[in-house]
This record gives sequence, structure tokens and C-alpha cells, in this order.
Amino acid sequence: MGLSDRIEAAVGAAIRQGQGAHAPARLAAALDYAVTPGGARIRPTILTSVALACGDDRPRLTDAAAGALELIHCASLVHDDLPCFDDADLRRGKPTVHRAFSEPLAVLTGDSLIVLAFQVLARAAGAEAERAVGLISVLSARTGMPGGICAGQGWESEPQINLSAYHRAKTGALFIAATQMGAIAAGQEADPWEELGARIGEAFQVADDLRDALCDAATLGKPAGQDDLHGRPNAVAQLGVQGAVQRLDDILAGAISSIPACPGEAALAQMVRAYADRLVPAAARQRITVPGE
Ligand code: IPE
Ligand code: IPE
Ligand code: MG
Ligand code: MG
Repeated sequence: MGLSDRIEAAVGAAIRQGQGAHAPARLAAALDYAVTPGGARIRPTILTSVALACGDDRPRLTDAAAGALELIHCASLVHDDLPCFDDADLRRGKPTVHRAFSEPLAVLTGDSLIVLAFQVLARAAGAEAERAVGLISVLSARTGMPGGICAGQGWESEPQINLSAYHRAKTGALFIAATQMGAIAAGQEADPWEELGARIGEAFQVADDLRDALCDAATLGKPAGQDDLHGRPNAVAQLGVQGAVQRLDDILAGAISSIPACPGEAALAQMVRAYADRLVPAAARQRITVPGE
């Protein structure tokens, strides 16, 4: 089975644990709607790639970790789109959960997905209780307060935004969770994998700022121009398009050199390079080839 089929199967298995004969049908449907079809599935892809690079000796645990991480990510998007946050109508090319279902069901969908993620990890523990506790510990730290995505979203309600803390918590946290959980699922220490996750997360944020500034809603499958609209500091405003693309390339070079020694180090570096090529929107590459820009 290829990597992307493996990840879809893992996410599908995770979501099925939250559904059953006695579940309220509309909320069950909203859970499905929020998670499938997916976006890039980049976080579970990184997680599984790191586990493979470390030997992947407990693939069921790796799959549970990948599914759980993607559920948290999808939950964060459902809540982020609500009227009380970004009030977005479009996500992954279709109406957001609160538009398609209702606001109460969107709040419950996010809540249910967050709880389900931890349940998936607890159920997958089997004989590997120590690894499972490590996975739960990393995922909770990177989801909540003081350094997870809740903290990241919380920065938007502060009178002064600390930009690097904001980006590290809002975006970087789940990339660090991805690399560390991949290592833990394969029985390795989490700490050496933090830097790789942080650097990939930083690169992702710069790329996201470029896409937000340069692409339209049809290409993105979600509203464009949001950083300007909400007056949020971002890499394009700070560095210009060319500067932001250069910054992205620098961060990714640093990411590759921070990969810890492991049996699959070369393959992992290849994965980060392939990911980097997809990160930069074509519109940005075209813009920087225009002379005089
Ligand atoms: C979007 O993440 C949210 C941010 C942190 C900017 P992705 O771009 O990974 O979203 P999907 O999962 O591919 O839709
Ligand atoms: C995404 O943040 C949500 C979280 C990380 C919680 P943004 O609001 O910046 O991303 P998009 O543009 O809606 O995907
Ligand atoms: Mg937001
Ligand atoms: Mg948003």
C-alpha cells in the first residue's frame, strides 16, 4: 500500500471509532464531512515518513498516531472557520461545517474530533502503553495551552501579537507533533525530532502566507487575502514575495540538515525536498521570475 492510501485508511479507521448505530446521525455525518475528503494530509504524511525512517516496528500504532493527528488538525479547521473566529464560508473547496450543518453542530464536531483523537491513541496502546502515553502527551501539549494550537488561536485575542509565539503555536505545534509522534510510534526519543518539525512548520507558515497573498479562493479552496483583510502580520508583508520565497528556501535547507541520524535519513530528506517543491505556489515562482519586481 502506498503512503497516501495508508494514511487515508488510518484516518478512515480513526473517524469510524466515533460513529456507531446509536450516534446522532447529523453529528456523525458532520464528523465525516469535516475529515473527508481531506486536504494535503501533510501532518500524517510527515508523521508516517518519520516513523518509516525510524524502522516503523509498530505500524498499527503509527497509523493510530497519524489518524489522531489529522483529526486534531481537522477539528482546528472546523473551529477556526466559525463566525466567532474567521467566519469562513469555504474550506477544502466546499461549504464550511457550520454552513453545511449548523453552528452548534460545528462546535460539537470540533469537540468530538479532539476527544476522538485521544481515544484512538488510548485504544491503540495494546502492549505499547509507554509509547501510547508518549503520543498522548505530545499531542495534548501541541493541541492545548500554553504552547499548542489553542494558544496560537488565543494570540489573536491579545492586544499585541507576539508573532513568533503566535506562528509557533498556531502552525508549528502540529508539525512538531508530527515529527515527534512519528519517532515515538517507532520507539525513538522525541526530543531530537523537535527541530525538524519546527522548521517544517515555519516553512509551511511562510508558504501559507504566500498562497494567501497570491492565489485566489478557487485555487485555495478557502477564502484568499485573509491576512490583509484581518490585518495580520505575515511574511509577504514583511519581506515581499521574492524575500518570502528566499526565506522559505533557507528554512527548508535548514530543515533537511536538522534531520536526526536514523536508518531512513536519506529517504526522509528526499520527502522534505519533494514537499518543499509543492509548498511554493506556482504563482509565487512566476512572480519572482518577472524582472524588476
Ligand atoms: C491549513 O492547513 C491551516 C493552517 C495551519 C494554515 P493545511 O493547508 O494543511 O490544510 P489542509 O488539511 O491541506 O486542508
Ligand atoms: C488555521 O489558521 C487554523 C489553525 C491553525 C487552528 P488560519 O486561519 O491562519 O488558516 P486558514 O487560512 O483558515 O486555513
Ligand atoms: Mg484563523
Ligand atoms: Mg482561518
